[in-house]
Amino acid sequence: MFPIDLKSDTVTKPGPEMRRAMSEAEVGDDVYGEDPTTARLEKAGAELLGKEAALYVTSGTQGNLVSLLTHCGRGDGVLLGKDSHILNYEGGGLCALGGLVPLPVDDAGSLPSVSELARALPDAGNVHSVRAKLLCLENTHNRGGGHASAPHEIAERADWAHGHGLSVHLDGARLFNASVSLGVEPSEIAKNVDSVQICLSKALGAPMGSLICASGEFVARARFWRKKVGGGLRQAGIVAAAGLFALERNIARLAEDHENARLMKEILRKGGLRVLDAERPTNMVYFGTKDEAEADRLLAACRGRRVLFNKTAADTFRLVTHPDVSREQALTAANVITEEYKALK
Ligand SMILES: Cc1ncc(COP(=O)(O)O)c(C=O)c1O
Repeated sequence: MFPIDLKSDTVTKPGPEMRRAMSEAEVGDDVYGEDPTTARLEKAGAELLGKEAALYVTSGTQGNLVSLLTHCGRGDGVLLGKDSHILNYEGGGLCALGGLVPLPVDDAGSLPSVSELARALPDAGNVHSVRAKLLCLENTHNRGGGHASAPHEIAERADWAHGHGLSVHLDGARLFNASVSLGVEPSEIAKNVDSVQICLSKALGAPMGSLICASGEFVARARFWRKKVGGGLRQAGIVAAAGLFALERNIARLAEDHENARLMKEILRKGGLRVLDAERPTNMVYFGTKDEAEADRLLAACRGRRVLFNKTAADTFRLVTHPDVSREQALTAANVITEEYKALK
């Protein structure tokens, strides 16, 4: 039963069936384009996302980086949310490795509004200005509490960007959580963007890997960038098989994680904790205490009882539900947190 690890949905471990699929995978050298399992995964991903082609990459961070490098050249500007994962949690790779200029826009836990985007867009007619080339969006939004944006909301921003000569990249690390929670096809969410990155290693349960889905021409250029950043893999089918298993078997069940997160929120709220509500929540729970001292004591007490979650600010925590935490464990964890919270008083 213990520990109950809710630090992230990245902590999932492949179960026996996924491991069997990995051990039985047909493999070849994927840098030579000879790995049939990776090819199957890429085809399945492209079809699900409604794009011509897909490229298997090692991680979400690499998927975003390779996409940005493929869209832009050195010195180009990238409009992206102030709270976005790309800006805050990917080591500044777009600057360090791409020479790109981040143009942060208020996103307040969701998508930036078109008026905020218009305000942040540099004047292309001014010789002093950075040339904006790309808009990045995120769905679901991690810092936004796992908020799921609807296809028409993505379309509105994408139309604006295309109208201003920009391309659009979607960081869809948890796009399937959005699609399940909204009851729409993944391809509907990705329809209006030029490239999308999806993670196989979050609540879909694969041990690693992401896909970049886009046009055939874009994916061909992205393949070249992937090689340059050291992401060309050889017998990738061993791990691609887990990704394929995840896409085929683990999407619909994300609804269970969403329900577990909802039930946990109810318990935490009843227990007097401050629960931050995303407008359209998925598998994340952000909650907090009165102040930092209380937060540190609560975190330590819960760790002592082997209920694990992360601190995201002085007085705020995040927990994430996933397939390795059952309904019973989710409820137990929420009850442990509220018991320990009461014991602080
Ligand atoms: C929104 C978002 N984008 C990208 C990533 C990066 O994925 P990875 O950890 O596979 O590099 C994450 C990881 O949590 C994420 O939450």
